[in-house]
Amino acid sequence: MQNQMLIGGEWRDGSSSERFDVENPATEEVIASVAAGSPGDATAACEAAATAQVAWAATAPRQRAEILRACWQKLIDHTDELARLITLEHGKPLVDARGEVAYAAEFFRWNSEEAVRIHGSLGIAPSGANRIIVRHPPIGVVVIVTPWNFPAAMITRKLAPALAAGNTAVIKPPREAPLTALRIGELLIEAGVPAGVVNIVPTLQSGAWFDAAVDHPATRMVSFTGSTEVGIVLLKRSADRVLKTVMELGGNAPFVVFDDADLEAAVEGAMVAKMRHSAETCTAANRFFVHAAVADEFTSMLAAAMSDVRVGSGFDEGVTCGPMINAKAVASINELVTSATDRGATVATGGGPGEGVGHFYRPTVLGNVMSDSEITREEIFGPVAPVIPFEDTDQMIADANHTELGLAAYVFTTDLARGMKVSERIQAGMVGLNRGAISDPAAPFGGMKQSGLGREGASEGIYEFCETQYIAANW
Ligand code: SIN
Repeated sequence: MQNQMLIGGEWRDGSSSERFDVENPATEEVIASVAAGSPGDATAACEAAATAQVAWAATAPRQRAEILRACWQKLIDHTDELARLITLEHGKPLVDARGEVAYAAEFFRWNSEEAVRIHGSLGIAPSGANRIIVRHPPIGVVVIVTPWNFPAAMITRKLAPALAAGNTAVIKPPREAPLTALRIGELLIEAGVPAGVVNIVPTLQSGAWFDAAVDHPATRMVSFTGSTEVGIVLLKRSADRVLKTVMELGGNAPFVVFDDADLEAAVEGAMVAKMRHSAETCTAANRFFVHAAVADEFTSMLAAAMSDVRVGSGFDEGVTCGPMINAKAVASINELVTSATDRGATVATGGGPGEGVGHFYRPTVLGNVMSDSEITREEIFGPVAPVIPFEDTDQMIADANHTELGLAAYVFTTDLARGMKVSERIQAGMVGLNRGAISDPAAPFGGMKQSGLGREGASEGIYEFCETQYIAANW
């Protein structure tokens, strides 16, 4: 198991001898001790990335594309190994971990196809005096900071387009789950990524690490996925150097069920939107607005589906919900549930932490939740579905939009015109219409309002990692 940091193509311990333990959240056992990077290591990684960037940017797009395609193949060929590592350090069921590897790998394949299609334009000035040439060169060194909920995919969603466009990267993997990132680093080198193009430096000193990376003169961009709270801190710090940023931040997704919805399909969609990857996703359905006419029926159908969920170690056969990442996460989920029940919400199933070893929470459905409860304002990040009955569509949309977080939303109705109208009125960057799964490397992932800046994936994603240069030319 790789437990050192990758700088300039070499695996090494940090400049201090500091290390940190990584825990399996299902057993609370230590599974690895990883070299902890200092701010000096972050600077060294930026140095290596800056040196490598000149040659990488000059590499023919087709050649970069071939290398990215080889990265896709490498990850696919190592699906089982990577999935086991993800389950070990994150806890998610193996079936989800395998899905994550496919999702993570696809960002390389997609961006290998985009690498040769970074188009500029040629126009003529309205006066006729000159030509207007627009091109999209790479930005330079990109600092990538990623969360623990997708130890592979949140890195590749940023790294693949960054490399495709000709940038180099310095990655801070999550402290809770760095092992998958380090193994991916090894596989990328085997796939032909040149030394220094990808650098990976785990750390315990997030703030000082980030300061050092941002202050390096070659750093030109920060790409972050995580909470809005941390995103604001990183945005302010990035502003000191006027760095370009892409921010994928928190979510508080409404899941709307109209009285004409196919309830079986809605429950199936709800289980995906709520429970994929152990309910620890920023796109997770966080508030279930269900028309009063079908609220009781939907609540009991969802409760039945949630009570069928097998909770346990992600390695165990049949388990579809693993542990939460740590004890703090379990405590904060439980506080939200308790504050909702204190205000009159009913517990249709679940309603508390698991027993014994491991950071488990029981899949929970809460009925009759007040639309202004704390649980509807906070990102739950756990297997809890609060159901809020509604009667008036305008009021429901106002409540759904009454959040600073506009990442994802879901709408279930058999009336497509109504579904489209409501989707267009919901302030979210991504809407699942009669669908619980929305994440797709070929679609632009990102949020409105305080859920983020910029988009990842699709053809939009690669341009985030490019500059725009215009040349006024006479000939
Ligand atoms: C996230 O939770 O940050 C990403 C979710 C996804 O890509 O589906």
